[in-house]
Amino acid sequence: MTRELQGNWRLRRLRRTAGLRRLVREHELDAGDFVYPLFVQAGSGINAPIDAMPGQFRYSVDRLPEEIAEIAGLGIPAVLLFGLPESKDETGSGALDDGGVVQDAIRSIRSAAPDLVVITDVCLCEYTSHGHCGIIRGGDVDNDSTLPLLADMAVSHARAGADIVAPSAMMDGQVHAIRCGLDAAGFAQTPIMAYSAKFASAFYGPFREAADSAPQFGNRRGYQMDSPNVREALREIAADVAQGADLVMVKPGLPYLDVVRAAREATDLPLAVYNVSGEYSMVKAAAERGWVDERALTLELLTAFKRAGADIVITYHAKEAARWLTGS
Ligand code: PBG
Repeated sequence: MTRELQGNWRLRRLRRTAGLRRLVREHELDAGDFVYPLFVQAGSGINAPIDAMPGQFRYSVDRLPEEIAEIAGLGIPAVLLFGLPESKDETGSGALDDGGVVQDAIRSIRSAAPDLVVITDVCLCEYTSHGHCGIIRGGDVDNDSTLPLLADMAVSHARAGADIVAPSAMMDGQVHAIRCGLDAAGFAQTPIMAYSAKFASAFYGPFREAADSAPQFGNRRGYQMDSPNVREALREIAADVAQGADLVMVKPGLPYLDVVRAAREATDLPLAVYNVSGEYSMVKAAAERGWVDERALTLELLTAFKRAGADIVITYHAKEAARWLTGS
């Protein structure tokens, strides 16, 4: 009897109709899980397409409300802000300016869409003349002298109204420094989304054009993670959790789905994955050539993040995917 049943496995029974497939589906994409990254640039009247990221733009603050209305209208709950300041210097001082481009953008979004969750990237690379994520001392990125700047930057964002701050500089102790800074400034309620397992990756190429943040000498391999390491990623996550992170992240996404899975099993915190610029632009490039079905391919890869264990997906495809999911 048993043997007979084993021979009769019919896994196709539950694939027969769309209704059956839907009923037994293990993971479902939802626009409510998306975070849409936005580049805001100092100046006015700017709505500049980013060459290396078709469909993405840099906006000046005055041009944001329209974009924000569209994002909120699509049911996307959150944006992640990156700033392109007026000018850069050795210490990235523009990042700490209460009247800086990201701070202005936060206030503008707050009034345009009060319910939209505003997350800010906390890192100096867009603000330093050398393009590194921290202060340079003796030819190297100095960890400990960078920490107070990151803390002040996070406080400045919180003061402008940011809902979540997201440190991405990969300095040791940055979550602790930011937590202490926020608490001391009266922002004990501001959560930290830690870019915990952030790998040194060639997939950031298009972003560095978008954010004008490429290092002017050397590279980021001395602070971002080495791509072969998964156990080390779990140590990064453990360190951030111990320092008070409220959410953790794995970045990039697609080439690191194994890390997403390992992270899922290692922590009960909300887990975000960043579907980075290079992943997005590869899809766009192939789609432009007619080599892939962009819609099907994108929904498939975004679903892979959920299957791997992510709760939150940060993606430049958020607006299109939200439309595809609702059929609008
Ligand atoms: C800032 C930062 C980077 C990205 C997010 N935050 C670039 C980098 O570390 O070089 C990359 C995002 C993307 O590629 O979409 N440190």
